[in-house]
Amino acid sequence: MAAANGVMGSALSSPKLSTRGQSALARAGAFIQLANELFQNAYSASNPDGFCNLGVAENSLLHAELVEYYNSKFHLEPVDFTYGNDLSGSMRLSKALARMFNAYFEPVTPVKPEHMLAGAGCSAVLDMLAFHLGDPGDGVLIPVPYYVGFNSDFAARSGMKPVPVAVDESDPFGVHTLKTFEETLRVAEAAGTPIRAVMLCNPHNPLGRCYPRETILAYARFCEEHDLHLISDEIYAFSVFPTEDDEHPAPFVSALSIDFEKEAGCDPARVHVVYGMSKDFNANGLRGGVLVSPHNPALLTAVKSTSIFMKMSTAAAALWSCILEDDVFFPEYIKENQRRLREAYEFTTSWFRFHGIPYSPANAGHFVMADFRQFFTDADAHGRPLPLVEEDKGAARDAAMCRRIIAAKVFVGSAAAFSCPTPGWCRITFAMRRDYLAVGLARLEQLFGLESFGGLAAGMSEGGDGKAQEATLAGGKDHVREVAELFEKTAL
Ligand SMILES: Cc1ncc(COP(=O)(O)O)c(C=O)c1O
Repeated sequence: MAAANGVMGSALSSPKLSTRGQSALARAGAFIQLANELFQNAYSASNPDGFCNLGVAENSLLHAELVEYYNSKFHLEPVDFTYGNDLSGSMRLSKALARMFNAYFEPVTPVKPEHMLAGAGCSAVLDMLAFHLGDPGDGVLIPVPYYVGFNSDFAARSGMKPVPVAVDESDPFGVHTLKTFEETLRVAEAAGTPIRAVMLCNPHNPLGRCYPRETILAYARFCEEHDLHLISDEIYAFSVFPTEDDEHPAPFVSALSIDFEKEAGCDPARVHVVYGMSKDFNANGLRGGVLVSPHNPALLTAVKSTSIFMKMSTAAAALWSCILEDDVFFPEYIKENQRRLREAYEFTTSWFRFHGIPYSPANAGHFVMADFRQFFTDADAHGRPLPLVEEDKGAARDAAMCRRIIAAKVFVGSAAAFSCPTPGWCRITFAMRRDYLAVGLARLEQLFGLESFGGLAAGMSEGGDGKAQEATLAGGKDHVREVAELFEKTAL
């Protein structure tokens, strides 16, 4: 019997969630717990037993400089306390972004504020795009490996289906990959998934390279032929740098710089560019993103009708505008960011070379893919034998290895998370304080029984407070087993 005040739970039925709510709940549990663990128990000088996060693409190489810059420049106007003067971002931000695109992305026709809609990060913008481009059950073709977030961006709310395209692993950026797109589209549609769009991530996450112009054109021709949209996620546009592996890497070519009608016979209304503040601006937390679709006003109008759902805070818009309008600081910042990305890349790849770990040379983004298959074990954590690589391509050995890595209090991007065709490849983020990076790599050395790389000891004292060295060996083992189990459930 329910108590008179109605608080005795047993006789009360729980209020129901929608079918969508229930399926989100079913998916969410392990993911949220794992995210909480990684974020709330993150390694730092004051939490030396926390998790070293080498798995999330966050760039902290210029945080100190940005804190100083923004703290000295931040300025709000009375209008910033209102809904503002634009349904999506702010007029000031749209003008500043238009200037940036026109100055650096070499657009075919000048980008104007009315060609874009700002939002609270690229994830929000992609979610909105999915909602307006596809119906539930419609597919989006994405070449593998691909950024894990695209799964939720397309599927979680809009119900679109990411359809992986198994492009040639030895040359995933070539024009010939379009043959695989043809075949994948045919198979998906025959199985009842109508394809509506193609996702191009350029510069590429997780491979860290740029697409050649001819391949972007081939994507556009394919989209025209099959009546599809082409989404170009250019969030790493400024994070491109030369390396010792490749002093003259393929430059970044924005989809905005291509005359699709003339060069590919493709209606430019099909092409939508997504850009954001998280990566090039070292600012994942400020939540800034933008959709640029200069030739599709209908799409922009449709998205604008609900853009309040993804509106950027006026404070974030003011910060982004401030750096974009600064013709002295901004170009210097971009140059310095690229210099530090290169330095961090060289440090990390010398660690790979020292240990004989093969890696896929990168020159863009915040990460590099490395082949960890030599660390596969024959048995899992309970001593049970694992299937041979020939039996499942190494998927079970990969999962067991990632579990051991998490148990050593390091988080790396797993092959499963990135739909990587070959299990055992991991994505390592290098764009972080050297002392944090060194602790993460030192823990991996300990885990795999590797000789210590000389550069790590020096790295640990760089910008640190001497605690890093202790932390490597401490790496407290509190409830790591539970966390490893969460990791297994989420395929992050
Ligand atoms: C390719 C790509 N697109 C989008 C995002 C999400 O960006 P945001 O923080 O703007 O939501 C990420 C973040 O890792 C990314 O790598």
